[in-house]
Amino acid sequence: MNHARKTTNLAEMNTSTRPLRIIVIGAKGHVGTTVCEALPSHHDVIKVGRNSGDVNADISDRSSIEAMYEEIGKIDAVVLAAGAVHFCPLEQFPEDKFLFNLMHKAMGQINCVLSGLDYLNDGGSFTLTSGILDRDPIRMASGAAAANGAIGGFVKSAAIEMPRNTRINVVSTGLQDISVERYGSVFPGHTPVSSERVAYAYLKCVEGGINGQLVTVD
Ligand SMILES: NC(=O)c1ccc[n+]([C@@H]2O[C@H](COP(=O)([O-])OP(=O)(O)OC[C@H]3O[C@@H](n4cnc5c(N)ncnc54)[C@H](OP(=O)(O)O)[C@@H]3O)[C@@H](O)[C@H]2O)c1
Repeated sequence: MNHARKTTNLAEMNTSTRPLRIIVIGAKGHVGTTVCEALPSHHDVIKVGRNSGDVNADISDRSSIEAMYEEIGKIDAVVLAAGAVHFCPLEQFPEDKFLFNLMHKAMGQINCVLSGLDYLNDGGSFTLTSGILDRDPIRMASGAAAANGAIGGFVKSAAIEMPRNTRINVVSTGLQDISVERYGSVFPGHTPVSSERVAYAYLKCVEGGINGQLVTVD
């Protein structure tokens, strides 16, 4: 019997030291800026927004997503930090506004995964963004909570079918410290989370080895 131990060539491992080609969608927003500032400088980061960044794309439009991947080409990671939501009282929530939440935040991110699979290198990853509102609700946010729940369910299920050692995870944070001025009044009693902890959550998904995880920062 051959008892020789299998050795590992560190240079071939997908470690955090290997430079990665990373798309950050929503790069100029609060979450996206935090992610971009945290990513080590040896990575090649391509910033995407509807009207900002290196490449423009609208994730609510599948053809725009496909054009973005066509323009950028092969990548090692995609971070989704975009997804607009409407806030509205439950009893007055119009169907079109509710659908907006699902189409922009949930389907926008899901379509970036579905269209991006062929562009993702072996061992690559998608990191989606949900948020605290399906775990710790506030008033007027049932639409946002529904989108968050949809993203979480999608990620958990998609993870068991990811091909070629690729990975998919979702980061769900509380209200970020830099967003308190903008949203603090609708989050009464919520303790803001530090941008440093938000950054670590995304780094864990991009440079780490986890798959199918909901990474929470509360
Ligand atoms: N901020 C927080 O405290 C927090 C906490 C938890 C979860 N989240 C979630 O994180 C996501 C980003 O939040 P944020 O506060 O960072 O938002 P933000 O500051 O408004 O930034 C949004 C970014 O996404 C881009 N964007 C918006 N819609 C897009 C679209 N359809 N296609 C492509 N890019 C688009 C914007 O670029 P352009 O202006 O160029 O389009 C901008 O760079 C949201 O889904 C939010 O619910 C935020």
